[in-house]
Amino acid sequence: MDLKGKNVLLTGGSRGLGPVIAKALIDEGCHIAITARSQDSLNTVAESLRAGGATVVAVQADINNADNRKLLVDIVTQKLGQIDILVNNAGVETAGAYHKHTAEEIDLTITTNVASPMHLARMVLPGMLERGSGHIVNLGSLAGKQGSAYDAMYSGTKAAMIEWTRGLRSELQDTGVSASVVAPGYVSDVGMFASFGVKPPVLMGQSKPVAVAKAVVTAIKKDKFEILVNPLPVRPLLALDMLFPFVGPMFMRLAGVKKLQKEKVGEA
Ligand SMILES: NC(=O)c1ccc[n+]([C@@H]2O[C@H](COP(=O)([O-])OP(=O)(O)OC[C@H]3O[C@@H](n4cnc5c(N)ncnc54)[C@H](OP(=O)(O)O)[C@@H]3O)[C@@H](O)[C@H]2O)c1
Repeated sequence: MDLKGKNVLLTGGSRGLGPVIAKALIDEGCHIAITARSQDSLNTVAESLRAGGATVVAVQADINNADNRKLLVDIVTQKLGQIDILVNNAGVETAGAYHKHTAEEIDLTITTNVASPMHLARMVLPGMLERGSGHIVNLGSLAGKQGSAYDAMYSGTKAAMIEWTRGLRSELQDTGVSASVVAPGYVSDVGMFASFGVKPPVLMGQSKPVAVAKAVVTAIKKDKFEILVNPLPVRPLLALDMLFPFVGPMFMRLAGVKKLQKEKVGEA
């Protein structure tokens, strides 16, 4: 898809990776609507994105609220026009020892990371299908490829995003509309992992936020199913794990991922 002049709705635009992804899409010539719950941060991000003359709309919304979602899509369509691209970037990482999670935490994580992106996609897809053009990008995670200790719930939601994208993409084949998933490992500087203030294991490394943003752009332009964002290639390891399912967990332990995850949530 040629991104020039396309209208994008990006969730999670108030902080972390969202503003970086928004900038990369603007650099490709997109008009963008960013959304999140924090109005002030959203306005600050929108203002800085507009500095280069881009069309940026900021709409406050809680994506977990059905009325908010409807209003969000209505306002964006009114202000920007048809939504050509949806980037389901908003997410929560409710890390911790699984048995210590509250029932509310489980519901919130599944709703934010899985159900709400699915609802938003359902709302924009009819228009895309009618026009025979559109793209949905979902943010997964490497944790959705290989479940992480002390992030089991989060890992489960990200695995759901990956397989939902696969099924949806297959269903949309030959319609002109498509879906992709971008799955980053540890990301430095901004975002949920950086906020823990711990260093990732050397064998995993960490990626810059712009690498994630670049992957989102590539996923749309080249219509890729899945882009894994990690400094060291992890696909061979994942392939080996498909054949021998003890490989992944063994690597996670030997590379120190489990130890780091434990430290990250204060369980070490
Ligand atoms: N950073 C990483 O290391 C990393 C690695 C792998 C995958 N990812 C994925 O990348 C995506 C972005 O992560 P991030 O690191 O940028 O996270 P972040 O810094 O925690 O930001 C999360 C964003 O989601 C928004 N959000 C959360 N709940 C929402 C709700 N109910 N309604 C509307 N907006 C909501 C937040 O805005 P408000 O709080 O203002 O609503 C914020 O803008 C996530 O899907 C995450 O799983 C991140």
